[in-house]
Amino acid sequence: MSDEIQQIKDKIDVADLIGEYIQLKPAGANKKGLCPFHNEKTPSFMVSSERQNWHCFGCGKGGDIFSFIQEMEGMEFVEALRYLANRAGIELSNRRSEVDNNQKNRIKQINKEAARFFYNFLIKMSTAKDALKYLEERGIKLETIDEWQIGFIPEQWDLLTQYLLKKGFAVDDLVASGLTIRKEGTESGGVRGFYDRFRGRIMFPIRDVHGEVVGFTGRILVEKENSGGKYVNTPQTIVYDKSRVIFGLEKAKQEVKTKDLVVIVEGQMDAIACHQAGMKNVVASSGTALTEEQIKLLQRYSKNINMAFDVDDAGQNAAKRGIDLAIEAGMRVRVIRIPEGKGKDPDECLKKNPDIWFEAVNNAQDVMDWYFSKVFSKKDITNYQEKQQAVDEILLEIARIPYAVEKDHWLRKLSEIVRVDVVVLRDDLKRVATKKNVNKLNSAEKKLESEKIIKKDPLALLLERLLALILKYPFLREKLLKSGLEKIIEESIFNSLYELIKKEYTLEEIKNQVKAEDKKNLDILLLQSEWEFSNFLEEDAKKELENIIVLIKTRWKRKKNEELKIKIAQAAKNNDREKENALIAEWTQINQL
Ligand code: UTP
Ligand code: MN
Repeated sequence: MSDEIQQIKDKIDVADLIGEYIQLKPAGANKKGLCPFHNEKTPSFMVSSERQNWHCFGCGKGGDIFSFIQEMEGMEFVEALRYLANRAGIELSNRRSEVDNNQKNRIKQINKEAARFFYNFLIKMSTAKDALKYLEERGIKLETIDEWQIGFIPEQWDLLTQYLLKKGFAVDDLVASGLTIRKEGTESGGVRGFYDRFRGRIMFPIRDVHGEVVGFTGRILVEKENSGGKYVNTPQTIVYDKSRVIFGLEKAKQEVKTKDLVVIVEGQMDAIACHQAGMKNVVASSGTALTEEQIKLLQRYSKNINMAFDVDDAGQNAAKRGIDLAIEAGMRVRVIRIPEGKGKDPDECLKKNPDIWFEAVNNAQDVMDWYFSKVFSKKDITNYQEKQQAVDEILLEIARIPYAVEKDHWLRKLSEIVRVDVVVLRDDLKRVATKKNVNKLNSAEKKLESEKIIKKDPLALLLERLLALILKYPFLREKLLKSGLEKIIEESIFNSLYELIKKEYTLEEIKNQVKAEDKKNLDILLLQSEWEFSNFLEEDAKKELENIIVLIKTRWKRKKNEELKIKIAQAAKNNDREKENALIAEWTQINQL
């Protein structure tokens, strides 16, 4: 423990730290400035880097970096320790988990307080009247606002942060809760270097299954060019892991159990509208695919899922991965289809005619039947090749089902449609099932597999991040074009997508023109840009781009160097002078990038 304290002191210079809060001037071997803890006109506040301490001759206060942060930020010692350790990049071994635990509780407290603040702001403040009117126009009743504790935060820089600081929360905890963002590169530190993540948004608390507020999602009230995503969410924190939380489950779980059915919709507003209309076994996936953890959570209450998702391809592809996992976990999945012209999502459908939505949920189609109609509507089965492709696609879905009798049921149905004996199909099922495991031939599997490869290759991962960022912030395109990364991107799987991005197309145009084989890549990039970058300000995005460019260049050079080293050695071994020289020239060129 005292070791760690010394390590932190060695890493953080006391004058540097204090210099972020007040202006210090050299005074002999020390530095001096105006004391931040009492009012004075001539400086009597001394800082000694050599002794790693500070002292004010005016008010008598003094100490080390820890006591300075305690005084300045109003933190307890343990908090100051954690804060400075984090800053120094030092892991606190033994006390870390204890501190984390306490911090978890503090963050939950912060979330609770913030939810109350948003809610009260919405219903009490006159500056929230537009927000209240908006909700009313969307058909949200006051009881519903109450029940879900919907709130509002006006468009201001740091209203919530200031409020919570006044309530006595430490800024370190506010940052850790995701509600407050630390502004990088400001000359003055202190509380002015912090701002609210959520500004000008209708706020929805996200609760865990026990009903505790773990995070928020905020919908923009008035969309402007700079307002970021339509929805902004709490980032990953020590109390919020988006892959483990399902919006609305704490309110739906009882009814899910009673009805033995969970209805999954995409949007928070959809889930809320369903509850308001009396359908209470509804949760929201928040626009992403179900994860294994979420499926496990749902299985506690029911193994039947009726799912509504966007009919466009992005919506389907996003949902597909979650559906696959659910089927593999032994759940029964049905697909809800809103009839043409009856609304683009459950919320709209309910508004047009609630009966149609209730009916759509009741008549949800088994996901296997849905695959059948999807596949056979595109394929001409009088052509034997197309017939085989169609059969392969369906077999791959059948292969996921963990129940033998059910498998048999779908094989028989397939047999009837394509007029191929079940015995033959079973044979093919074996081939497809092993291919699935060995060669990963199916397109869905290929996609998952390519994702795994991307995840393993840091360069591809960086390129993915780069393009996701550009898609989200097209104004960075110019910078990208000048970055010298062209050649690297052209060598990658993102080549043809990059061609589209280069052409100053809008996102819509890119979506329309993207090659079929890139569609899924694009969907993944778009999901990633929403999830990772929607909270970025323009300057954050610019900085992020610069960082990524440097990282990509370094990675790429390293990779090329390794490849070339081997080739050069080989050429030398073969006494191929010409080749060796050419490779060396290439090597020089690469390292000039
Ligand atoms: P939609 O764009 O379909 O919005 O996103 P929506 O639910 O219909 O929203 P309203 O009706 O305009 O208010 C579906 C879901 O995807 C997530 C949200 O969970 C949203 O409800 N999403 C969407 C984000 O997380 N970020 C975004 O920028 C947009
Ligand atoms: Mn909607």
